[in-house]
Amino acid sequence: MNTQASFQVLGICGSLRQKSFNMAALRTAGELMPAGLKLRITGIGDLPIYNFDVQEKGFPASVTKLRDEILAADALLFASPEYNWSVGAPLKNAIDWMSRFQPQPFNNKPAAVLSATGGPLGGARGQYDLRRILDGLGVHWLAKPEIFIGMAQSKFGPDGKLNDEPTRKIMTDQMTAFEDWIKRMKRAFA
Ligand SMILES: Cc1cc2nc3c(=O)[nH]c(=O)nc-3n(C[C@H](O)[C@H](O)[C@H](O)COP(=O)(O)O)c2cc1C
Repeated sequence: MNTQASFQVLGICGSLRQKSFNMAALRTAGELMPAGLKLRITGIGDLPIYNFDVQEKGFPASVTKLRDEILAADALLFASPEYNWSVGAPLKNAIDWMSRFQPQPFNNKPAAVLSATGGPLGGARGQYDLRRILDGLGVHWLAKPEIFIGMAQSKFGPDGKLNDEPTRKIMTDQMTAFEDWIKRMKRAFA
């Protein structure tokens, strides 16, 4: 019997693309997680573009659903590409919607972040913009190990399998550190 405490991690992918490398990376992180973490990936593709006029009439059901999933999760795992040197519109849109709730669901959530791109920098610029945005929302993100998966097309197979051993290793290390981080943040903010 597994008596170890299990933390529910909500995965949020910034790419809506069917064959997204970031979605593949998120799934791989889920496979490489220690036994104490359980990943469930949500979708952000059905959120409307943020508009205060829409909000005034009432939060759309897809938006409220995401809010509830975030509130229910012990921690968040973000995987996002970089679009034009910053956070892509789908993820920024989801964050903008979430930021309108009171209480604001991101507040005091532990999180880890990774990014994958076709270019050599692995989305470092976008990932650091994301970390800065999350700072403003009270998210406590794991600083290290950092994961920037550059030249993603050379590291994932056509089936989405991550074949690059050094990347698998650092992802395993990040997930191990993430479990410890979640425990520490839970103690600090319970
Ligand atoms: C609108 C757009 C902007 C992009 N800007 C960047 C960029 O600034 N830096 C980068 O490394 N790749 C950029 N790319 C390429 C992405 O890294 C590549 O499409 C990657 O596969 C996206 O992640 P995904 O596979 O999870 O969808 C851009 C792609 C798009 C569609």
